[in-house]
Amino acid sequence: MNGFDEIIERGLNEIKQATDQNKLNELKAKYVGKQSELAQAMKKIAQLPKEKKADFGKNVNIAKQKILSFIASRQEEISNAIIDSKIANEKIDITLPGRKTEKGSKHPWEIIKDDLMEFFSSLGYTIAEGNEVELDRFNFELLNIPKDHPARAMQDSFYIDDVTLLRSHTSAVQSHVMLNAKGQGPIKVICPGKVYRRDDDDMTHSHQFGQCEGLVIGEKVNLGALMETLTLMIRHIFGAKREVRFRPSFFPFTEPSIEVDVSCFECGGKGCDLCKGTGWIEILGAGMVHPNVLRDNGFDPDKYQGFAFGVGIERLAMLKYGIDDIRKFYNNDVSFLHQFKGEK
Ligand code: DAH
Repeated sequence: MNGFDEIIERGLNEIKQATDQNKLNELKAKYVGKQSELAQAMKKIAQLPKEKKADFGKNVNIAKQKILSFIASRQEEISNAIIDSKIANEKIDITLPGRKTEKGSKHPWEIIKDDLMEFFSSLGYTIAEGNEVELDRFNFELLNIPKDHPARAMQDSFYIDDVTLLRSHTSAVQSHVMLNAKGQGPIKVICPGKVYRRDDDDMTHSHQFGQCEGLVIGEKVNLGALMETLTLMIRHIFGAKREVRFRPSFFPFTEPSIEVDVSCFECGGKGCDLCKGTGWIEILGAGMVHPNVLRDNGFDPDKYQGFAFGVGIERLAMLKYGIDDIRKFYNNDVSFLHQFKGEK
């Protein structure tokens, strides 16, 4: 017994009870550091008789190594325990639902516009774009609406200068298309796009909205073909059961002009709030292209006839989806827009 066994025993007991790295560091200093009993003992080596020095030194070192190896194995136990508890606590629950990425949905305006484009493309129409900033000439004059014509007041418009304005209807594209065709039919186009009017915004009016214009010019185009086309379009959008009604009307660029109604979706024609008791809902304006318009845009009215129509995109969407306020189209309320998820 050289007295070191007792130190080793004490050290081992304390090391066993250590539960963290700080405590181990502390014990390492206590048992093998400069101030430790073993270090103190080493200092005494000088006073020992020569023949005992080697054994004594060896025993101090053995005691030191034992303590260091206890510390190392306890250290491993502690870090394993930390890892084990991390694994237990941070377990990944693979049954949890994943994080969702929100997908956008098509705007109802786009749904209707795309639907119209698809429908008319299937009937052989092409798409003309036109300009939103337009010359007065195209928006009015070439459509048989000369300066001071009262019809200009029907579409109070945003003028940029004396001759330029934001187009007030997609009919403005008609002249571009006709002039480009240089008097040669046939023409079969639709023009969907934005139009602008100096209206105060409320539930049914907006300073900006969408229209889709249609124009067909050929040598055997008649009112019957127009009525058939519009009936097909209305039934495509609103369902095969809808009845369609044509009423005489007035537009400067068509003669005769008609207004087109659809049987009320709500009451089926009996009369309710939606149709204001009439059983019918007004959908669009149309007519046979006025001979003046044909002539002014390079077509011979004795050879060619044409029909045209203009329909409001928001109006179709509002009626189809029961949207009560046109401002919802541009307020970007996500909960409103999400309702159209899944619509094509
Ligand atoms: N441009 C008209 C409007 O904005 C709609 C319209 C009526 C267009 C008759 C036409 C048409 O092409 O023939 O109120």
